[in-house]
Amino acid sequence: MVWRLITYTELYTPVPPYKSTYAIGVVEDESGRRAVVRIDRRYFGRLRTGMEGEVVEEWTVFGTLKKFVPREEVRVTRVALVTGGARGIGSAIALELARAGFSIAVADLAYDQDAEKTLEAVKSLGVEATFVAMDVSSAESVERGVSEVLSKFGRIDVLVNNAGITRDAYLQRMRPEDWDAVVRVNLTGAFHCSKAVSQHMVRAGGGVIVNISSIVGLVGNIGQANYAATKSGLVGFTYTLAKELAPYGIRVVAIAPGFVKTRMALAVPRSILRDYLKRSPVSRLVEPEEVARLVRHVVENEAINGIVIPIDLGLGISSPKA
Ligand SMILES: NC(=O)c1ccc[n+]([C@@H]2O[C@H](COP(=O)([O-])OP(=O)(O)OC[C@H]3O[C@@H](n4cnc5c(N)ncnc54)[C@H](O)[C@@H]3O)[C@@H](O)[C@H]2O)c1
Repeated sequence: MVWRLITYTELYTPVPPYKSTYAIGVVEDESGRRAVVRIDRRYFGRLRTGMEGEVVEEWTVFGTLKKFVPREEVRVTRVALVTGGARGIGSAIALELARAGFSIAVADLAYDQDAEKTLEAVKSLGVEATFVAMDVSSAESVERGVSEVLSKFGRIDVLVNNAGITRDAYLQRMRPEDWDAVVRVNLTGAFHCSKAVSQHMVRAGGGVIVNISSIVGLVGNIGQANYAATKSGLVGFTYTLAKELAPYGIRVVAIAPGFVKTRMALAVPRSILRDYLKRSPVSRLVEPEEVARLVRHVVENEAINGIVIPIDLGLGISSPKA
C-alpha cells in the first residue's frame, strides 16, 4: 500500500512522555483514507509533501505507533568536524571518519604543513574535505568556523572536541596563565564548540559529540594539575550533555586515552614516560589510529552514550595512583 505525505511538522521540542523529538504528519492512501503518523527525526530537513512511503506499526513501551517511512531514502553525506584535526590524534580521527564515508572539516589554529598533509590524505580517500581556521578558546572564532562548515556542507553530524594543549608544571611552579590557557582550550573550547554545533544538530534530528578526555583526567598525573582538571571537567561535561541532549537524538561520549604517540606525548620528559611505561601492564604508547578507530566505533554504535571509555592499555588498573 502506497501512502502519500499530505502535511507534516517537525517537532524540535521533546514532547512528554516520549522524551524525544520527532515529526508528525498526515498521510493518505490511493483510496483517500487518511492517517496521522509519526515520522523519525532522522528525516528532519528532508521531508516533502507528496513524498510516497509505507505506514508501519511499531511497538514501543508507550503503545503501538503508526509510523511513516518515506520510500525514497534521500541519501545524505554525513559531515564530521574535528577540532585540532591538523595533526596527531585529530588527524587520525579525520582520516578514520573519512574511511567511514564522512565529509571532513578539519578545524585548527592555522593552515600549516600538518593541516595540508591531513587534508590531502583525507581527500585521497575520495571524500570531501575542508579546512577551517578556528581557535576553540574563542566563542567568536568557533561561531565563524561552524558557520563556514555549515555553508560549505550544510550540516554537521559529528563533532569531535579534540583540540588540546598542555602547560605542565608542579603546582607551586604553575603560573595562573598556564592554568588559564589550558582551561580555555581544553575545557572552554569544548563548551564553545558543543554549544555552537548542537543547535544545528537539534534541527537536523541528531548527531554525536565525542570529547577527547584523557586517562589523566581519571587518575591524575604529577605536573599536570591544570591538564588533568580540564580532562576531568570533560567527564562531567560529557555526562551532563548526554542527559540534556538525548531527547534531541544527540549522543555525547568521552574517550580517555593513555599516552598516545604524538607530539604532545613525546614532549613529556623521558623519565616520566619511562616511569609511565613501567607502570602500564602493556608497555608501549597507544597509536593515534587506535584512538581513531574507537571514535569511529562510538560514532557508528548508537547504543553508546554518556560514558567515558578509557583506551589506555590497562594503565587504569595498574595502581590506584597510576
Ligand atoms: N598524546 C597523548 O598522549 C594524549 C593522551 C590523552 C589525551 N590526549 C588528548 O588528545 C587531543 C589531541 O592531542 P594530540 O596528542 O594529538 O596533540 P597534538 O599537540 O599533536 O595536537 C593538538 C592539535 O590541537 C591544535 N590546537 C591547539 N590549540 C588549539 C586551539 N586553541 N584551537 C584549535 N586547535 C588547537 C593544535 O594546533 C594541534 O593540531 C588533546 O585533547 C589531548 O589532550 C592526548
